[in-house]
Parts: sequence; C-alpha cells; structure tokens
Amino acid sequence: YEIYLNGTTGAVPRLPTDLTRLEEVTEQRLGPGPFGYVAGSAGDGSTARANRAALDRRRIVPRMLRDVHERDLSVEVLGRRLPAPLALAPVGVLSIMHPEAEGAAARAAAARGVPYILSSASSTPMEQVAEATGDAERWFQLYWPKDPEVARSFLGRARASGYSVLVVTLDTPLLSWRPRDLDQAYLPFLHGVGTANYFTDPAFRAGLAKPVDEDPNAAVMHFVGMFADPAKTWPDLAFLREHWDGPIVLKGILHPDDARRAADAGMDGVVVSNHGGRQVAGAIAAADALPQVARAVGDRLTVLFDSGIRTGADVFKALALGARAVLLGRPYAYGLGLDGQAGVDHVIRCLLAEFDLTLALSGHSGPAGLGASDLAEEPA
Ligand code: FNR
Repeated sequence: YEIYLNGTTGAVPRLPTDLTRLEEVTEQRLGPGPFGYVAGSAGDGSTARANRAALDRRRIVPRMLRDVHERDLSVEVLGRRLPAPLALAPVGVLSIMHPEAEGAAARAAAARGVPYILSSASSTPMEQVAEATGDAERWFQLYWPKDPEVARSFLGRARASGYSVLVVTLDTPLLSWRPRDLDQAYLPFLHGVGTANYFTDPAFRAGLAKPVDEDPNAAVMHFVGMFADPAKTWPDLAFLREHWDGPIVLKGILHPDDARRAADAGMDGVVVSNHGGRQVAGAIAAADALPQVARAVGDRLTVLFDSGIRTGADVFKALALGARAVLLGRPYAYGLGLDGQAGVDHVIRCLLAEFDLTLALSGHSGPAGLGASDLAEEPA
C-alpha cells in the first residue's frame, strides 16, 4: 500500500513493478555491450526461452478460506534462517552495470537479510564486498581455478573475510558460444581489470608474465585460461571438502544422477540451474529438471533453484516443484544498472511483495507445505 499512498501525491515508482519489464527499460538506458552481455544467452537463446516457458506452463491452483491473515516467508537454508526463500545469484563484473557494482548489490541484499552470493569474477575484491555486507550472510561463488595454488588462495581469502557458504559453479568449465558478445567483440572482463577480484589475487598475479597494468589483455587471457578447468571430475571434489569447512553447494546441476553424486561426495546442496540459459543452448529448462532432482536428493541435500525467476508466482512455482529457495540473476543486475543500490532494493522488494501476495491469494501462510498439488500443468 506504500506505493498507492505515495501515489496520492502524484509519486509513482521510478522503475517498473513488473520485473519482466526491467529488461526493455535497461536496454533503452545502457550501452549495447554491457546490456548484451547481461541479457544475452548461449546460442540461439532457446534455453533462456525454455526456462520462462517451463515456469509459465505451470499454473498455480489457488485454494480458498484457509486463514492467511498472518504470514511468515522465512525458510531454513543450510542451517540458516532466511527471511524469505531468496538469494541474489552470483553475477560477474557488475561494474559494467554501475560504478558501485557488487558493493551496492551486497548492501541492498544485506539490508533485507537476503544472502548475496559474490561471484569470483566480481569487479570488486571479495574483502571489500565483505565489508559492504556488514553483519549479513556472506556467500562466495567459486569458479574453480585450474591452478590449485590460485584455488587455495581464493578459498583462504574467502574464509578470512568471513564468507560462510561456498557455491561452486560447475556448468562453466568454458565460456559458451554467446552470439551477442561475439557479434560486438565484447568481453566484459576487460572492464576495470586492474581492480577486479581475480586480478588482485596474489597467487593469480604470481602467474603473470607482466603486471596487470602493463599488459591488461595478457592478464585477461590468463584469466580466461585459469578461471575454470574442463579437466575436473567428481573425485576432485575431495579437494574442496578438504579446504572448506562450511557448507558447499554445487551450482549447475540438471541431472538427478549428478545430484546423487553430489550427495555421495559430501556436498551440502545443489543449485538446479542452467546458468540462465547462458551455457548450453538446447539444454533442458531448469524448471523441468527441478522435480526430478528434488525427488532424487531432496531428503539428503538442500535443493536451490535458478534460471528464469522473474515474478513472485515463479518463486511460488519453484518451491512447489521442490526447491527450498531460489536465486535471482538478471533482474537485480538490471535494477543495479538502472538505479544502483536503490534499484536492487526495488527488485528485491517487488519480488518478495508479489510472492507474499501470491501465497496469500492462493491460500498459503508461508513456503512450508507448497507442493505438486498446488500446480496444474498446461500441455507443452
Ligand atoms: C551470470 N551467472 C553467473 N553464475 C556464476 O556462478 N558466476 C558468475 O560469475 C556468473 N555471472 C553471470 C553474469 C551474468 C551477466 C548473468 C546474467 C548470469 C549465472 C547466474 O548466477 C544465474 O545462474 C542466472 O543468472 C539465473 O538466471 P536468471 O535469473 O538470470 O534467468
């Protein structure tokens, strides 16, 4: 009602409250390189479209007269009580969207108690983002570097600066075929290279022939070869378990057998995700993969979900399909690009307000108990 009350003085929200419209607004205001990088997907974009279609195809079946006047959105995730089933997904190089970059996103998330998952490809060193996060939850996403010294250095820095949950992204052993970036020859990692998280890492710097500022292009190429390792296999997870004593979550899981292997390897959670359709064009929609993964490991692992979440109804559907909580990607990056910390705050508030109303109007007082019977599926 805050928005309606402000409206009595003629004030309307600065950004759309329908988060699906943020993309078109961002396109009008941001340069084609940065916008194309964030909005873009792998190949012909079919996976990103399938992510939306798979959520749209599922329809909520509202129930009536169930006393929903008091509601509690909180959930338990990896032993932590979160105010809502939401975290901000790791998104790299946010300085292309806004000069305050990850710091602004982290502050917005912290103010609402929403975990902010800092990307290892961030444009701000993780120590600085930790400070911006204050007392709130600090989660760190690792692109698992090829050189174990660099991996150790990253994990050590993350531990020392108070990150508690490690999210390891497995679906990006290589950058995919991304026509929008290729067509513009736009590689975001060149932006602010000298101060970015990777490029300030002592172990990473030790492997450079010349200092970053003397040859930034060579530093970026070194990063591209180092940031992930296509030779990794399941037994390598032992290295992570050895070097990280908090919860470890594997991001990018789409097959139930991979989820079972994650559980067998002593991991704590998985993110069912196809990277927002940015890695394998033609991949299964994340929402279609979610029920099978949840059935396979829901009793052994915390199952999180991302790829295509845009509305409160989408959050409801993901939870009903078996997720404990969701991660949000592009929409908050657009919010950041349009209005810095306030833009990210706008996105978080709109999404959670809509989720709260969706729950209530569908006959639920909280996330607990959402399940398959709350959804109907339209024929594909
Ligand atoms: C990403 N994503 C990502 N994931 C990750 O683990 N590390 C990263 O550095 C990045 N970087 C990144 C940059 C940009 C511009 C985007 C859009 C995405 C993937 C991200 O965490 C998440 O999986 C998707 O964004 C979720 O899909 P939606 O919400 O964007 O549809």
